[in-house]
Amino acid sequence: MKRSLVMSLIVAALALALALPLYAAAPKAPADGLTMKVPDGKKATKALVKFNHTKHVEAKCADCHHKKDAKGNEFARCDSKGCHDNFEAKQGKDSFYAAFHGTAPKSCLSCHKAKKEAKPNAPTACDKCHPKA
Ligand code: HEC
Ligand code: HEC
Ligand code: HEC
Repeated sequence: MKRSLVMSLIVAALALALALPLYAAAPKAPADGLTMKVPDGKKATKALVKFNHTKHVEAKCADCHHKKDAKGNEFARCDSKGCHDNFEAKQGKDSFYAAFHGTAPKSCLSCHKAKKEAKPNAPTACDKCHPKA
């Protein structure tokens, strides 16, 4: 009896020791007011979009952060190399523009359109995301 208790304690301690680094490694979503960027070296034609994680807690992290970047970062920027880094193309998986306005269900605009009735605060007009200066 006593022995199995000691064994369970050891097992529990080991499990905890293994699990702790996993928790420590999970990054937190950045604070609200994050200003998005265009790929390095490119020039934005519209006002840059501000993104607030606290307005998107209903979505799972992986709905948006759905692919690791080349360095294995799970929460990489959308425009990371090998992701949506093609600034010129308006369509296709690597298109920067399509990532946010395309028809894939996880693009900003697709989701907002789908939720328009239930969530009227999800903007679909250009200048609600790209505020006029
Ligand atoms: C739901 C939010 C949202 C809406 C609505 C939206 N966009 Fe965007 N758009 C983005 C995001 C996010 C980016 C990428 C980050 C950035 O450029 O700030 C982007 C980038 C762009 C870009 C490429 C970057 C640049 O500045 O040249 C263009 C062009 C653009 N949008 C045009 C439009 C137009 C035109 C409309 C209306 C038809 C529109 N967007 C509506 C979120 C939105
Ligand atoms: C609705 C979409 C969405 C959801 C859900 C979401 N994020 Fe994000 N996250 C973004 C966008 C957009 C950016 C800005 C990326 C960019 O500028 O390209 C970002 C940026 C980040 C960054 C900073 C990346 C960098 O290198 O600058 C981290 C870390 C992050 N998110 C973590 C999380 C975590 C953790 C969760 C879940 C709790 C989460 N995100 C949920 C869209 C989302
Ligand atoms: C999975 C669905 C989903 C995706 C993907 C999504 N959104 Fe939203 N977004 C919402 C919902 C729902 C709301 C309304 C939240 C509320 O009612 O408080 C919202 C609200 C917003 C708002 C208004 C609130 C605020 O923060 O000022 C902005 C701006 C916005 N989203 C930008 C974006 C951008 C930019 C992206 C893509 C990078 C994006 N969203 C992707 C669902 C989504």
